[in-house]
Amino acid sequence: MAKAPMRVAITGAAGQIGYSLLFRIANGDMLGKDQPVILQLLEIPDEKVQKALSGVMMELQDCAFPLLAGISAHSDATAAFKDADVALLVGSRPRGPGMERKDLLEANARIFTVQGKALDAVASRNVKVLVVGNPANTNAYIAMKSAPGLPSKNFTAMLRLDHNRALSQVAAKVGKPVTAIEKLFVWGNHSSTMYPDYRFATADGQPIPELIHDEAWNRDVFLPIVSKRGAAIIEARGLSSAASAANAAVNHVRDWLLGTGGKWTTMGVPSDGAYGIPEGTIFGFPVTTENGEYKIVQGLDIDTFSREHIEQTLKELLEERESIQHLLS
Ligand code: NAD
Ligand code: LMR
Repeated sequence: MAKAPMRVAITGAAGQIGYSLLFRIANGDMLGKDQPVILQLLEIPDEKVQKALSGVMMELQDCAFPLLAGISAHSDATAAFKDADVALLVGSRPRGPGMERKDLLEANARIFTVQGKALDAVASRNVKVLVVGNPANTNAYIAMKSAPGLPSKNFTAMLRLDHNRALSQVAAKVGKPVTAIEKLFVWGNHSSTMYPDYRFATADGQPIPELIHDEAWNRDVFLPIVSKRGAAIIEARGLSSAASAANAAVNHVRDWLLGTGGKWTTMGVPSDGAYGIPEGTIFGFPVTTENGEYKIVQGLDIDTFSREHIEQTLKELLEERESIQHLLS
């Protein structure tokens, strides 16, 4: 028997990421090839933007996706989030050349209080929320705090793009396909302070630290490439990453809902106090997922170099949180 459709709400649907993301979801890449989907699209109430959104909807229709069971366009969050099973909060202002992601804090923070409240009011009681809009961790924190009626654990931030970037770099360094690499992940904030960590990673079962005996490569090549990749793309394209961001969002939700089969991935999730990260801080952790739930991988050794990097990214997140605290009262 055919499955009942799932409702996926997507904000910023007429933006760059939206233009990749919607088609991937409608094609079954995110929820599975047997899962019909209804897309509930939110954009700002601007005539031009709503018109652009109607064009994207025409294109979705013209793909005749077998799994697409409905599409609707909205300019009001409570209409867009009604009964949503999954909410992808993409809509917000992207950074331009020379900006840090935290420069977007004030501009974007208000959006996430409004949207957190709307989710609280009308979404499915088990809605799975992924925040993509930057600064993603702090925006996810704001949305979570604005939705006290929903489980906090259902609010997540996207570090999967950082994870995928790290994966490609490590695979190239050891000369193996990305599918050979396991137990790689990224700690912390989706910002230049993130800390990609391959100390526990393996390639075809062989420990990566045995294959890469090169602290200088880790410190001076790998870390800067991964943590500054977003800026490098803005510099090269004149626009922030879009197709790779959409792909990472698809990967994040797919793994969360359909399971990783014991493998590790990276999700930005509210801390349970693990590794000294204060409870509730939305932080990139290694996780495994099963039956629609994630579990933070516990008990990993933290050496001095890692501790310094984890503390640095945590400090930045706590400062971001401090600066938006007034919006939560
Ligand atoms: P974009 O400017 O092309 O599109 C954003 C869209 O959001 C616009 O169409 C805009 O009208 C809409 N929007 C703005 N405020 C809204 C609101 N309140 N409700 C609904 N829609 C709203 O930007 P983009 O390139 O698609 O990027 C979107 C966000 O994703 C940016 O914040 C960007 O920095 C972030 N991003 C995050 C990651 C990550 O890894 N976490 C990666 C890439 C981009
Ligand atoms: C990215 O990592 O590509 C995005 O967060 C966009 C940005 O501002 O870097």
